[in-house]
Amino acid sequence: MTSKTKSSIERMRKHIEEFPRLLASHPIEDEILKKCRLASKKGIDGICLLGMGGSSIANQYVIALLRERARIPLLLVQDYTLPGCVTKNYAVIAVSYSGNTEETLAAFSEATCKGCDVFSVTSGGKLAELHSVKSKIPVNIPPRAALPLLLGKVLPMTETLCGLPASNLIPLEAKLESYRKDWKSSSVTIKEFADYIPLFIGAETMAPVAYRAKCQINENAKREAFFSQLPEANHNELEGFSKDAKCRLRPVMLRSNHERMEIGKRMNATKDILDDLGYDCIVLRAPKGATQLGEMMALTHYLDMISLILAERNDIDPMTVPKIERLKGRLE
Ligand code: PA5
Repeated sequence: MTSKTKSSIERMRKHIEEFPRLLASHPIEDEILKKCRLASKKGIDGICLLGMGGSSIANQYVIALLRERARIPLLLVQDYTLPGCVTKNYAVIAVSYSGNTEETLAAFSEATCKGCDVFSVTSGGKLAELHSVKSKIPVNIPPRAALPLLLGKVLPMTETLCGLPASNLIPLEAKLESYRKDWKSSSVTIKEFADYIPLFIGAETMAPVAYRAKCQINENAKREAFFSQLPEANHNELEGFSKDAKCRLRPVMLRSNHERMEIGKRMNATKDILDDLGYDCIVLRAPKGATQLGEMMALTHYLDMISLILAERNDIDPMTVPKIERLKGRLE
């Protein structure tokens, strides 16, 4: 292993170890919450959350968490344009770690032209220069490692815009540290991930966690990984599993203790069918007694570390994303 790779692994390890602390280390500014409260009182028709890649993950977690409580639409935008239904009566939060992501900047400009209430969460770049209600986050962190920082901003902003009380993220730091102690006793070992292509399967609040895990294996460990969401995948993907693929693919089912009964039944039935085909499913259950947010963060933290260990096993630099950079360079 080169010394550069070794130092990258150590830097990423430090970021993942800091995950619990980062959730509440840069709390949302009172001034910004005040502006969110004003917008909510004035009345908004919906909220659009803009972002790509590592910056969009926080948005996906927020939408999954608030899906049943929000009384206005929460739209996820991972594209250059806004949906046609977005009018000036929408609030738009643009999330871009670098502040230079072209899709996010384009959709943000459209929101500004439409006269929406515009907010941004960024460490700098062009987004920081544009007019909006801005929340800044620290520089020099890979966007995907900034998830707890981004979530610590986007969640209370969106809750307040929805007229809901803002979550207190401070107690979660200690909880995540305590859940971490169970990692060692986890029956799942890195060997079970090492020689397979993982397929992360989630439902409800675990769906974005499954997606995040896939992205972390792709970006940190530079390996193929896939994700699917129940109940939808029961209506198509299930049919595609065959005995031939069982030696390459490892389904990883993420289970929440808050899942609705129907989802629990589907998860169990899906596993039975995969077992019969000879797949060796991993089932990861969120810690007992955790809130939905606590569950999401606990499994994310664990799977982030798995992605790093996989990188380390294969001498992979987890900090850089050369193919993504190459593509961005080609588009400039
Ligand atoms: O993890 C990454 O580096 C990428 O997925 C980026 O998050 C993505 O390309 C978008 O960039 P940014 O997060 O700076 O808006």
